[in-house]
Amino acid sequence: MGMAKINPALSYEHCLDYVLITEEALQKRIAEMAAQIDRDYAGRQLILICILRGGVVFLTDLMRKLTLSHQIDFMSVSSYGVGARSSNGAPRIVLDLNTDIRGRDVLLVEDIVDSGITLDYVLRMLNTREPASLEVCVLLDKEDRRKVDITPRYVGFKIPNEYVYGFGLDVDEVYRNLPFIGVLKAEYQ
Ligand code: IMP
Ligand code: MG
Repeated sequence: MGMAKINPALSYEHCLDYVLITEEALQKRIAEMAAQIDRDYAGRQLILICILRGGVVFLTDLMRKLTLSHQIDFMSVSSYGVGARSSNGAPRIVLDLNTDIRGRDVLLVEDIVDSGITLDYVLRMLNTREPASLEVCVLLDKEDRRKVDITPRYVGFKIPNEYVYGFGLDVDEVYRNLPFIGVLKAEYQ
């Protein structure tokens, strides 16, 4: 039992199985998502809420492709135990918003929805603050792993049930900077 440890001092390549989504494909899809959001929220005052830390690379690329004026804010939720590669335990708010979202159009920006437990928790919590609207925009969707019913309004890519990293997603807190999405070698999953 148990997975092999990655060596964070080494390049990402030592634990890369294959590139799942290239930089070009990511940027093309994010531009399409931004165009859709521009259309859907035209004339409204949008606030993008990024869930740290995994969502930050997606957020910064997405927001630079939006033409709609918008605000951003951040929150941090811990869901995975240190070194764990799957959900284990209840999520916890580590950092809350600075912005009052009552009556606002809110779009949650997340890297990935896996079991859905994290997003379900965050959505319930934010709904108690009575935003005008609350929707979800995720880059990656691992549908097969869903444990709670979450249907994001915007999905970048549906992906298979593999541990992925890069573009904000980490392996033991490193490799978030990669401009593509890679699949972790089986021995580390
Ligand atoms: P959920 O609560 O199971 O939906 O987990 C969501 C969170 O788990 C995401 O925001 C990620 O931070 C993390 N996560 C889930 N799958 C992966 C993965 O394949 N690579 C990296 N992080 C992941
Ligand atoms: Mg995350």
